[in-house]
Amino acid sequence: MQVLFTAEQIQERITELGDQISADYAESPVTIIGILSGCLMVMADLLRRTNVPVRTTFISASSYGGTRTSPGELTINDSMLADLQGKDVLLLDDIYDTGQTMQKIVAHLQQFQPASIATAVLLWKTDRNLTGMDPDYFGFRIPDKFVVGYGLDYNERFRELPWIGIPDDDDLRQAAS
Ligand code: IMP
Ligand code: MG
Repeated sequence: MQVLFTAEQIQERITELGDQISADYAESPVTIIGILSGCLMVMADLLRRTNVPVRTTFISASSYGGTRTSPGELTINDSMLADLQGKDVLLLDDIYDTGQTMQKIVAHLQQFQPASIATAVLLWKTDRNLTGMDPDYFGFRIPDKFVVGYGLDYNERFRELPWIGIPDDDDLRQAAS
């Protein structure tokens, strides 16, 4: 599999993001909301790179009936979400592709009356934005290629890789079986 970002490159960039987020939320603790399951690596690493108090909580979103690159109907599960009223929240995902997942979750979170909502992603596919909304924080801009590793899956596979790669047809065939 072709490696797009090595583990070292990812860690370096997350250190910078951690500094940026720590500076921006130095005054009051930010509540970081991880979108499961893709957030799992970036959440764990980003938390270790913040040097201000933070709160953490999770939400999950899954799309059904979609294909590899075009999501179907989005189902949001907020049953494990902490109280957000009056809180500054930062919604964290692995990748921003069309932007629809983030946009729908941001809209969903409004009912909990947070003081502010910002968005952060490790990867941003800048070619595919369909929402006109940009993430407030991002690790790397990438072209419109399907990527896996570091939390990103194909068919629930490859999340465990410490690096990010572009799977070839053989990788995808193996993962589908
Ligand atoms: P969006 O709603 O189009 O922005 O898509 C975001 C969701 O699609 C992410 O949370 C991922 O679960 C999934 N996704 C988009 N692109 C990729 C990719 O290249 N690899 C793995 N998952 C992806
Ligand atoms: Mg996903």
